[in-house]
Amino acid sequence: MPNVRGRSIRVLYDAETIDRRNSELAQEILAAGYRDLLVVSILKGSFIFAADLIRALHGAGLSPEVEFLTLSSYKSGMVSSGEITVLRDIESEVTGRDVLLVDDILESGRTIDFAKTTMLDRGARRVGVAVLLDKPGKRSRVIDADHVGFICPDLFVVGYGMDVAHAFRELPFVGVVEDG
Ligand code: IMP
Ligand code: MG
Repeated sequence: MPNVRGRSIRVLYDAETIDRRNSELAQEILAAGYRDLLVVSILKGSFIFAADLIRALHGAGLSPEVEFLTLSSYKSGMVSSGEITVLRDIESEVTGRDVLLVDDILESGRTIDFAKTTMLDRGARRVGVAVLLDKPGKRSRVIDADHVGFICPDLFVVGYGMDVAHAFRELPFVGVVEDG
């Protein structure tokens, strides 16, 4: 088991597995037929997934524009505050455009629900959702992702952009911090 910050990390999805899945997701997104695609990466958690996914999209022959939307949900640590706010908005007009929201995890659904509603309210023609991980066990909103990397067990995960209080984002894999 990798040891980081003196903690053992149990690997759930290794770098090679994630890489392979990103290529498959890119093919799926290509086949979905988005037009004039604007990829919106939801920060901070999705920054590594989005970086790899857009390069996979290039590999699949797509040429998206890319923007960043910083939302707050988890203030710190592992407890959700429940309320979503925009900390930093995208700069592009989305009216009449196809938007693909990219996030790390779909859990309660509050984050994606908020982002999707915001894009549709602004007049987006179509809003797709791509997430690396779907944790269906804790959903509080009726919302699903169109493109899912992996169905994830109900565990608090770190790595590949995901954090505990801003730590562990650098890990090239997704894992669980073991006790002790
Ligand atoms: P939701 O709004 O409950 O769907 O939560 C989604 C957001 O919560 C994600 O964008 C993540 O930033 C964060 N999150 C949920 N579960 C985890 C986890 O296991 N590790 C790290 N962040 C998480
Ligand atoms: Mg997030």
